[in-house]
Parts: sequence; structure tokens; C-alpha cells
Amino acid sequence: MKKRVGILISGRGSNMAAILQAARDPAYPAAIACVIANRPDAKGLQTARAEGIPALCIDHTSFPSRETFEDEVHRALVEHQTDFVALAGFMRVLTPHFITRWDGRLLNIHPSLLPSFRGLHTHERALEEGVKLHGCTVHFVVPELDAGPIIAQGAVAVWPDDTPDRLAARVLAVENALYPRVVGAMAAGRITLRDGRADVDGAIPDTSLVSFA
Ligand code: GAR
Repeated sequence: MKKRVGILISGRGSNMAAILQAARDPAYPAAIACVIANRPDAKGLQTARAEGIPALCIDHTSFPSRETFEDEVHRALVEHQTDFVALAGFMRVLTPHFITRWDGRLLNIHPSLLPSFRGLHTHERALEEGVKLHGCTVHFVVPELDAGPIIAQGAVAVWPDDTPDRLAARVLAVENALYPRVVGAMAAGRITLRDGRADVDGAIPDTSLVSFA
């Protein structure tokens, strides 16, 4: 039986679409359990529905607290027999109420080479700091924001004439290549959270990428 991944999004959903695309290959180890957005206008919901994937909106604004919203997301994930969860541009901070229930089974992709540039506006900040390499990180989610054990990273070179948008586009291309590989490796049981570290079984080429684009 394939492990089933639930994908949480808030908007465009290009990382989600990349995982859906990978899952079309019968040999891909993960099956898509469901896609959940916290915003009704999330474009990714249409993409998922067009592929016949169960896609639902759980609008956080209609819940009285973070915890009641998280209870509903948890309930929907369980209903769709989700084994693990991939946050893919999910822009709502999750509390320990949710995170502890998915401990070791909750991944996020963040648009920087962590631990640099946690939080928002990562591409602007990378340019301000003058870093020469930038990229993305897939990590286990822990209660502290963007601070969980690192599973995989993808790097791009920063060019002198880069703008935040141009840099973001090159990083996103690496995200879209990296995240499906990590989700596949997770489904195959090759990634585990052990003693606060991500244990990745072999296969560095699968889980670290450098793009010279
Ligand atoms: C991606 O760049 C992802 O790394 C980032 O949002 C974008 C979503 O794009 N996530 C975060 O900033 C999380 N804090 P997508 O909707 O096209 O996948």
C-alpha cells in the first residue's frame, strides 16, 4: 500500500502541482490523500480538482480560534486516510495543538537555505544581505517557526543583477524539483525524525540539489 500524503496550501500551489505530477507515475511511492486550502480563493484548489484529487477549503476565518480550525483540518486529513502531511505554501502558522499530533509526519518547504532567513520576504532579505547562494529547505515542522530538522536543501547562485522576483522564480523551480523527491522518499520510509534530527537513508542526490541556472 502506498503512503498517502495530505497537502496543505494557501495559494498558487505550484509545489502541490509538482507533487501531483510526480504521483501520476505508477512507480511514485506516495498517493495523494487530499489537498486542503485555508483560503477559498487558493488557485491550487482548481488545479487539484482538475486532476480528480479531493480538494477542500477549510476557511480559517470561519473558526473562533486557531485550535478549532486545526481540529477541522486534522479531522479532514484523518477522514482521507492521510499518513503524512506536506505544507506547500501554507501560510497559516500551526500551533503545537496540531503539530504534536503529526510529529515526525509533517513536512514544510521554506524559500531559503535555513537557518538563514526564517519567516517572510526571504528573497528580499537574501538580496539585502548580499548572500551569494540562496535556495529552499524541506524540513520537519516543530512548534518554533521554520526551525525544524532539515531534510533537504536546494541552492541557486545569486546574480549581481537579481531582483526579488527573478530570484524567487529560480528558487521556485528548484522547490518544484526538490519537494516531489522528498515527498517520495518520505513515502518510501527513507526519511525519519530521530532524536530531533532528520535521518535520511542514503541518496544525497535525491535530497540535495544545486541549480546553476
Ligand atoms: C513557495 O515559495 C514556498 O516555499 C513558500 O511559498 C511559496 C508557495 O508557492 N512557503 C512559505 O513561504 C512558507 N512560509 P506555491 O503555492 O506555488 O507552492
